[in-house]
Amino acid sequence: MLTLDMDQLSTQEIQQYLQYAIAPRPICFASTIDLEGNVNLSPFSFFNLFSMNPPICIFSPSRRVRDNTTKHTLENIKVVPECVINIVNYNMVQQMSLSSCDYPKGTNEFTKAGFTELASEFVKPPRVAEAPIQLECIVQEVITLGENAGAGNLVLALIKKIHIKEEVLDGNKHIDQTKLDLVARLGGDWYARITEANLFKVEKPNTKLGIGFDQLPVAIIASNLLTNNEKAQLANFDILPESNLQQISSLTEATIVKIKLALANQETAVAWEIIRTSI
Ligand SMILES: Cc1cc2nc3c(=O)[nH]c(=O)nc-3n(C[C@H](O)[C@H](O)[C@H](O)COP(=O)(O)O)c2cc1C
Repeated sequence: MLTLDMDQLSTQEIQQYLQYAIAPRPICFASTIDLEGNVNLSPFSFFNLFSMNPPICIFSPSRRVRDNTTKHTLENIKVVPECVINIVNYNMVQQMSLSSCDYPKGTNEFTKAGFTELASEFVKPPRVAEAPIQLECIVQEVITLGENAGAGNLVLALIKKIHIKEEVLDGNKHIDQTKLDLVARLGGDWYARITEANLFKVEKPNTKLGIGFDQLPVAIIASNLLTNNEKAQLANFDILPESNLQQISSLTEATIVKIKLALANQETAVAWEIIRTSI
């Protein structure tokens, strides 16, 4: 295993390792304005949701590693503490990338990247009409993480309004995850596209207590045919299996194949029934 001490690495090397490792990252496509009303639009993947009540997300325009200058987005936010965070889908990805060029201050990246301005209702910066979701935000605070090249600046954005295109909603007016076609940033030039084909569900365990690996039958723990994901599905069952089940020291290959099939279909109760009836 390669082990590296951050103190021994250059900022470029740190960037190389961490941006590949901490991925995929969602993209905040932020529109801001300066005191003269000039519009700016830039993407930031140091971004996430941090609070529901109050609803706050944070993104980080860093000091440029190249020359330690600050981003126009940050300069704008310091004088007009408002922004719109536009959510980026696959259809927008090349234009979004184009907008990240270091155009001179005062350049409107809506124009440069071919996006359409849509007036906001609560804040002054415009929304990206093409974005499937737009969040109107008031900037609560900017936390500066340092003065050196590469230092981040946390922009705490309080979300006041969310606009969602009808086409990504389901029948209950909720966002349909399969319809959003989101993109995310990884290391280097890599992006991920979140299509229905690569989405999957993992049942939330927080309403019931899973029995845990330590309560699994010996034959399950010892099996090389079951993956750790499959063992975790079994360990995430809420009914403590009878103690004699824990003593099962062997299961036939045919039984394990049946268990695997049930788990692949998210039928954990069925998988436990197969184990129970195998003795
Ligand atoms: C997908 C993507 C994600 C990015 N994420 C960040 C980021 O999190 N922080 C940052 O400082 N720059 C990031 N950048 C680079 C900025 O978008 C770029 O420096 C931009 O020109 C800043 O514009 P501004 O000076 O007009 O604010 C990203 C670029 C792309 C294409």
